[in-house]
Amino acid sequence: MHVVPGIKVLYFGTPVVLISSRNPNGTANLAPMSSAWWLGQFAMLGLGNSGQTTANLLRERECVLNLPSSAMVDAVDRIALTTGRADVPEGKVRQGYRYEPDKFGVAGLTQQASELVRAPRVAECPIQLECRIVAAHPFAGASVQATAFQVEVLRAHVEEELVIPGTSYVDPLRWDPLIMKFCEFFGGGSNVHPSRLAEGWDMPHQLQRTSR
Ligand SMILES: Cc1cc2nc3c(=O)[nH]c(=O)nc-3n(C[C@H](O)[C@H](O)[C@H](O)COP(=O)(O)O)c2cc1C
Repeated sequence: MHVVPGIKVLYFGTPVVLISSRNPNGTANLAPMSSAWWLGQFAMLGLGNSGQTTANLLRERECVLNLPSSAMVDAVDRIALTTGRADVPEGKVRQGYRYEPDKFGVAGLTQQASELVRAPRVAECPIQLECRIVAAHPFAGASVQATAFQVEVLRAHVEEELVIPGTSYVDPLRWDPLIMKFCEFFGGGSNVHPSRLAEGWDMPHQLQRTSR
């Protein structure tokens, strides 16, 4: 039997992407996101308009999409409720966000120079995609003010042990992406870590939360 609960969140489960972008002062910003889908050598990214990353992508027209493995969940969660925007929007303050100019440092992640774009890669991420912004589309509705970015992958860097030897393919048995499902973190089908985002969004989940 189906019911009609009027579900409030539609995050059914998508890979987490750490987007690195360049701030106006030349430093790097880093933001977790998961509203991404892929077609050929392109991706569409859904990003809220109040974030620093959206401003950076509109201005710089480039970014790096870094895909963390599920083992990197702790680093991702550490920057979950941070923004690179100094004037934190009121709505984000209410959710517990704070301004953080050094997200790489807070996450314990390492900047690695890119080859084709100015934003750095995340050295620890097994898959890093250098991208240019092809187009930016307004994406707005009653509960969302966002931008849909079409990006083109210019160069893909992949950890050697994930590549099927002698091919241009990633081995799906070796690649274990960090998945965000209804604001909770999953890897290999299991819940792998408590989620600050779920706390900030006041999710009514029964998952065990550890104190930090
Ligand atoms: C796992 C995870 C997934 C997220 N997915 C998205 C997303 O798809 N789109 C989005 O706009 N924000 C998403 N967020 C929230 C952003 O990280 C948040 O808006 C943050 O302020 C962006 O950083 P920035 O302001 O420095 O750009 C996600 C956060 C987490 C922790």
